[in-house]
Amino acid sequence: MRNDGEARSGLNEHPIDNRPLRLVGIGGSMGRGAQSRMVLEASLAMAAVNGAETVLVDVRDLDFPVYNPDLRVDAYGPKLAWFLEEVRGADAVLLCSPTYHGTMSGAVKNALDYLQFLGGDRPPYLTGKAVGLMSVGSLTAVNTITALDHTTRSLNGNIAPTTVVIPNGSVDVAARRFIEPATRGRVEAMMTQVLELAQVLSPLRRSRVREV
Ligand SMILES: Cc1cc2nc3c(=O)[nH]c(=O)nc-3n(C[C@H](O)[C@H](O)[C@H](O)COP(=O)(O)O)c2cc1C
Repeated sequence: MRNDGEARSGLNEHPIDNRPLRLVGIGGSMGRGAQSRMVLEASLAMAAVNGAETVLVDVRDLDFPVYNPDLRVDAYGPKLAWFLEEVRGADAVLLCSPTYHGTMSGAVKNALDYLQFLGGDRPPYLTGKAVGLMSVGSLTAVNTITALDHTTRSLNGNIAPTTVVIPNGSVDVAARRFIEPATRGRVEAMMTQVLELAQVLSPLRRSRVREV
């Protein structure tokens, strides 16, 4: 699902060429009506309404097999190529995983494992990209943030200071809204940080020619 960003604001314009910032949201669950997918959609919409270009990568739509390091990228077909190009071109990445057994879901981790194919890029992985972290769950959902944090750091991503745990049942998926104003407010705070960070980092990433 893509939004090409029509409205423009100062925050979301790129400082060098004034192109809109590009955001990719990765997450959701294999189940229908996932809260995590709705949260990603709502978060991307907060950026899109201010002119950012956004794309949602739902793990249910990806439906990737378990990552196999013996296979080359072209063995996986166009869906993987699309996913990698979207992440490559993004100024910022949002991650939102359900909490499964005290950590991120296997489907979300599997999607992130495919970013191994960005390891040969210069700069590699998520270098120079802003990353916002969110999880859905109950008491152990904060562990999911920690797991996402570890993986994002391994991928060289730059994490926004505010992260968000979405308590189970605090969003109305059918109505596509946050029930708790405090949850929505925290997502808005995180999104502001993600956009500001992306605005600072993006020109550095694009002008970077090699690792030092
Ligand atoms: C296999 C499985 C394991 C789960 N383990 C936990 C858990 O350890 N802690 C927790 O807070 N919720 C747990 N839950 C509840 C999920 O966090 C909750 O259903 C999920 O966040 C909903 O996200 P979704 O609507 O995006 O699918 C588990 C759910 C499933 C299906």
